[in-house]
Formats: sequence, C-alpha cells, structure tokens
Amino acid sequence: MQQSASHDRPDIRSVSRVVRGMPATDGAGVELTRVIGQPAMPMLDPFLLLDAFRSDRPDDYIAGFPPHPHRGFETVTYLLAGRMQHKDNAGHEGVIEPGGIQWMTAGRGIVHSEMPQQQAGLLEGFQLWVNLPAKHKMDAPAYQEHAVGAIPVETRDSGIRVKVIAGVTQNGTRGPVVQPLTEPLYLDVELPPGQVFTERLPVGHNAFCYAIDGQVLADDADGNAVTLQRDDLAVLSHGTLVTLRSGGLGARCLLIAGRPLNEPVARGGPFVMNTKAEVRQAYDDYAAGLF
Ligand code: CO
Repeated sequence: MQQSASHDRPDIRSVSRVVRGMPATDGAGVELTRVIGQPAMPMLDPFLLLDAFRSDRPDDYIAGFPPHPHRGFETVTYLLAGRMQHKDNAGHEGVIEPGGIQWMTAGRGIVHSEMPQQQAGLLEGFQLWVNLPAKHKMDAPAYQEHAVGAIPVETRDSGIRVKVIAGVTQNGTRGPVVQPLTEPLYLDVELPPGQVFTERLPVGHNAFCYAIDGQVLADDADGNAVTLQRDDLAVLSHGTLVTLRSGGLGARCLLIAGRPLNEPVARGGPFVMNTKAEVRQAYDDYAAGLF
C-alpha cells in the first residue's frame, strides 16, 4: 500500500485551519487586530486571546489601556517597536522596551495600566492571553520580564533566526520564560527569502503560526501549500514536526504552542475562570477593592 500525503504521517503538523485577524478596538480606544478571541476563533486552549497592534499614528494607540483588572490567566506582551509603560496596584512598574517581553501571571487578581510611553512613532507588538488551570487561578500575581538582550536568538543555516522567548527549541536553545503549567513555546522566527524552517514541537500541545511580515507557506493535510500573510493565523494539527517556508520576500512569524488545559472556560471581560459563579465573584471582589 502506497502512502504519500502528509495525512498519512501523524507526526507531521499540517495546517488544519486558517483564521484572519479582525479589526478591534480595546482599552481607551486602541486600534488593533484581534486574532484569537474573536468569533472565528474564540480560543485555542490554553490561548484565550491574541491581539496584534502596529501603527505609527498616535491616534491609534496613545489612549492606551488605563487601569483595568485581570484574574485567572496570564497576559503576555511582546513589543517589536515602541515603548509601553506598565504599572500595577501592588507597586510594580516598568517599561517594556522594543524586543522585550512581559509575561504577567495575573493569578487571583491585579489592576494594571498599559500605556504607550511615546508621543509619536511606530508602536508594534502583540498581547497573548494564556489560561491558568483551576488549581492555579488564584495564585499570587507574578512577573517574568526580560529585555531584548536577555532573550536568546538561535541562528540556523541559511540565515534563519529564531528568537526564543519561552520553551526550548529542538537544538536546545532555551527561552527565559518558564511556565510549567502550560509549558509554552513562544518563538519569533525570521526567514530570509525562499528558506525552510523545521521545528519539533511538544506532541500534545496546541500550536499555531501567526504571520507578522512577508509570506509564510505551510502545507495542509493534503499536501497543498497554504500561504499566510500579515494577520493570518494557521492552526497546526497535532503531531511533532512543523515545516514553514518563506516566500520571495522572506517571512517573519510567531510560532506558539502550549499544553491544553481541557477545563471549562467561563469568560467575563478581563476575568477568565472555570464557572460563571467564579466570574461573578471576580466582579464582586474587584468592586469591593479586594484586588
Ligand atoms: Co491588561
């Protein structure tokens, strides 16, 4: 019996679906693209939301995200350009600089603001929400913050660059962010034109590729090439090996994976719990000043 197409190779992670980000406004009027957390893709366990923002028009971002609460999950802010000032109600504050990451575990609750520090120029980055398991939703808030210089970049043959924010690559490059609850892999991959990138992902993880720039090509289960452009997200099938190719202009993408929690999800704005009663409790606690 002859086998050819990749659907006969359960170890290959192919593109199972493509979702296009949609325009959204959040915070005090920040224009962004919502990729996960929209009708076409409410979530990809354990990922609850992915926002992309890129603008050099201050009107699109200057209003920022004034003080607001979170409970029950993690917010991950990765900046490519511009500066974002962060402050919370526990006295933790700082500035996320270009190339830097802030992995914030909101846990039982924080109130924070995320405000562009610049008056002009390009602001570009991403915010990803990563769920926490029921047992850890009420943990104490915590931060993992790393400037660009603390994030390793693996350079491969043909000039492919892999910035490793979380997790470990097949070559052993380890990112600074550690989260044993979901074992996330968070890679920023840059491919020169016409190159092929292959990576081995943890087998049970849900994974996706989000195109930042250029054209990213990946095969679906029938072996047909799927082309991703800015704001396209490809959900990858389960398996291990993912192969991404770049078009003639090169490509840059996020390759992100995490272990699914397989728990009920109850969402209410900035709170993500397991039951509606827990979400109501979060609103009550916030109103009572308990965060
Ligand atoms: Co926030």
